[in-house]
Amino acid sequence: MLDGKKVLYSGMQSTGTLQLGNYLGALKNWIELEEDYQCFFCVVDMHSITVRQDPAELRKKARALLTLYIAAGLDPEKNCIYYQSHVPAHAELSWILNCYTYMGELNRMTQYKDKAAKHSSNINAGLFTYPVLMAADILLFQTDLVPVGSDQKQHLELTRDVAERFNSIYGDVFTIPEPYIAKAGARIMSLQEPSKKMSKSDENVNGSIYLMDDPDTIVRKFKRAVTDSDNEIRYSDDKPGIKNLIDIYAAATKKTASEIEAEFASSGYGDFKLAVAEEVIKMLRPIQERFADLSKDKAYIDSIIKNNGEKAAYYANKTLRKVQKKVGFPERIR
Ligand code: TRP
Repeated sequence: MLDGKKVLYSGMQSTGTLQLGNYLGALKNWIELEEDYQCFFCVVDMHSITVRQDPAELRKKARALLTLYIAAGLDPEKNCIYYQSHVPAHAELSWILNCYTYMGELNRMTQYKDKAAKHSSNINAGLFTYPVLMAADILLFQTDLVPVGSDQKQHLELTRDVAERFNSIYGDVFTIPEPYIAKAGARIMSLQEPSKKMSKSDENVNGSIYLMDDPDTIVRKFKRAVTDSDNEIRYSDDKPGIKNLIDIYAAATKKTASEIEAEFASSGYGDFKLAVAEEVIKMLRPIQERFADLSKDKAYIDSIIKNNGEKAAYYANKTLRKVQKKVGFPERIR
């Protein structure tokens, strides 16, 4: 709890470009949380270097992601939006938690196994201990709730296990975080392979609508979206392509699937795809405009980075000092 509100924490990597799935499945829902929770949204650039990155590109993307958070509607006064690398407490707590996490636990992490297979020439120790850094992110802020996708559930479980282990030795140091299950939140699938989640790391760019795609690109991608051949706009599991388009249309217009079925009862796929594209263009336009404006205002973004970085460091250090004391590090002389 912080100022009478529960603490909600999430992070996103700045590698890759945010796409519609990130927006409709996460970011858009976060905006509604700022009144009820004390929210921290971190750009987890330290996690990013577990895979080789181009430095200039990483810096640029981190700033773009932070700017996009604000452009999408997160109020940087109410939400603490900051860079992980600006708060040294993340690295410090991560080291300590490494000493309370078992090799066997980390060995079981499916994301590690997947990434190790994908980057077999660079299986570094950071990739292995990635979940420990994530645990540090969460635990530093005495987080109550973590909105997580299914791919991060295992990491959150580990976070809880490590926190409970630490608490059982030293007393109540960490709040045990719970997963936050969004009330609504569409699960958007790839336009090219509707059985797969839309992903910012997808190599097929036609599968994803990026938040910065221009209208022509959006129309082209929707036109090419994979569908079945019966030409009927019906919300059904055996029509995954159309189901996904209905989900997108529903999220953009706040209409229900049955309203959409009725609206397009006499239309074919071509018309429907164009209608979806139009709604998405309409939904993204204000975000894109805001992003362009914000990107020009260097001083403003810089001030957010500085102030929120300091705010995050303040809370993080409180937890870190407590932990350092518990494990027996010598007192600081002032
Ligand atoms: N590992 C998360 C992902 O790839 C990102 C992340 C890092 C995160 N630290 C976090 C998410 C803390 C939630 C809370 O999606």
